[in-house]
Amino acid sequence: NVLILDFGSQYTQLIARRVRELNIYSEIKPYNKPPKDLSSYGAVILSGSPLSVRGEDAPHPDLSEIKGKKPLLAICYGAQYLAHFNGGNVSPSNTREYGRANLSFIKENEPFFHIINEGSQVWMSHSDTIKELPENAVKLASTHDVENAAFRIEGEDTYAIQFHPEVYHTTDGKQLLKNFLVDIAGMEQDWTPDAFVETTVAELKEKLNDDKVILGLSGGVDSSVAALLLHKAIGKNLHCIFVNNGLLRKNEFHDVLEQYEGMGLNVKGVDASARFLNALAGESDPEKKRKIIGRVFIEVFDDEAHKVENAKWLAQGTIYPDVIESVSVTGGPSATIKSHHNVGGLPDYMKLKVVEPLKLLFKDEVRRVGASMHMDPNILGRHPFPGPGLGIRILGDINEEKVKMLQEVDHIFIKGLKDWGLYDKVWQAGAMLLPVNSVGVMGDERTYEKCVALRAVESTDGMTADWVNLPYEFLQKTSNDIINKVKGVNRVVYDISSKPPATIEWE
Ligand code: XMP
Repeated sequence: NVLILDFGSQYTQLIARRVRELNIYSEIKPYNKPPKDLSSYGAVILSGSPLSVRGEDAPHPDLSEIKGKKPLLAICYGAQYLAHFNGGNVSPSNTREYGRANLSFIKENEPFFHIINEGSQVWMSHSDTIKELPENAVKLASTHDVENAAFRIEGEDTYAIQFHPEVYHTTDGKQLLKNFLVDIAGMEQDWTPDAFVETTVAELKEKLNDDKVILGLSGGVDSSVAALLLHKAIGKNLHCIFVNNGLLRKNEFHDVLEQYEGMGLNVKGVDASARFLNALAGESDPEKKRKIIGRVFIEVFDDEAHKVENAKWLAQGTIYPDVIESVSVTGGPSATIKSHHNVGGLPDYMKLKVVEPLKLLFKDEVRRVGASMHMDPNILGRHPFPGPGLGIRILGDINEEKVKMLQEVDHIFIKGLKDWGLYDKVWQAGAMLLPVNSVGVMGDERTYEKCVALRAVESTDGMTADWVNLPYEFLQKTSNDIINKVKGVNRVVYDISSKPPATIEWE
């Protein structure tokens, strides 16, 4: 187990992912709340930070239980922190050092740089520089602009680097992490998806015994993988509930239910479409629509959950990015841009204990765990779909007719992406029904009908995204199909906005 102490760098999660790609488990903790018991950690990594070590508000944690006692790798800010407090000198650099650089010197016969050669590309992102190394430090590498790009402390397994091994542009970054974690710290590379499934299922068995567990399935990857793990552990004691809010994709309720049953899950489909649509009637404010959908979901789920007698647990598909305690070293309130509704908002009067089998995993790891349990690739490869579904893709107020219209449009678009082999190249795609009528002509008739916008984006986590350059031929065919087949639509546009400044959904 590797402990990553976070000083607020935008790259901290990447460090954890790179370590895990080496099949070594890693955990992120805020620098000011390190675990009390360090015995389970085989190595510690200090992250970067947007601050300067010389600043008064900068993180200055006590490392006396770590440095010299555990193998330690300090990255960027971490390296400067080590230098600053051990007799070195950290000052503003004359040139701001951002972007690519190449190692122009590497000390010979250092296990830290095993199989890494001079010339290797590294990624820099810092405005302070280490002018003088601390006492007992040995310089290990330099670049053209950065004299002390890497060093170690004599007599300790303490290593420090100014560049970022976790980013893709540091070509040998993963090798460097491996050299440190495996060769120097002596860690085992045994944290694999299969091993995760085995230990998690065993832990769930022990924790849950013969208790009944309730889980809300959404059709998405996370809740599905969570369900499969629990199913392996407790079989029929897992009671899954899949709610049709009337805002799902065309045929989705039926198809997904069938897939779940095929996986052997004990799942109850609840068609509450009418209840949702009634509650939404006449409402066109996006945030109010979200709140209504969230509230009705809780009511429906709660009714169903009460039908399972003696249920003790509520399972959730929470994943690691949702639970990492974030460090905000620069202060600044983070504004609520959209209120995302998730099962997380369930009322506590349900009095169920919560079990979250995926809360240690990143999204791509969830997929790998699903694959190692032979889960249907159709579920594993699914695009993300918002909880409020088509409810936030029908701009303005919602009614059944609009839902049907958008389901048809969306179906043609998504099926087209699959038929053209484009679906897996896109992170998320969908259609928006705009509250706009425009004039058209069909045959000899003047029409005055709806406009739909298609959106397809590339992203890794939904935080930032860019529109996908779909082939013109594909767009042309899709647009034709939509206008010819979906009654009430006479115009199709393609959204070419990135996030930021736009968002992925239109509401
Ligand atoms: P935005 O529109 O904020 O979307 O760029 C980022 C990602 O979040 C999804 N999304 C939601 N998911 N409830 C959800 O469960 C919501 O209210 C919601 N709004 C947006 C969106 O589909 C994209 O994947």
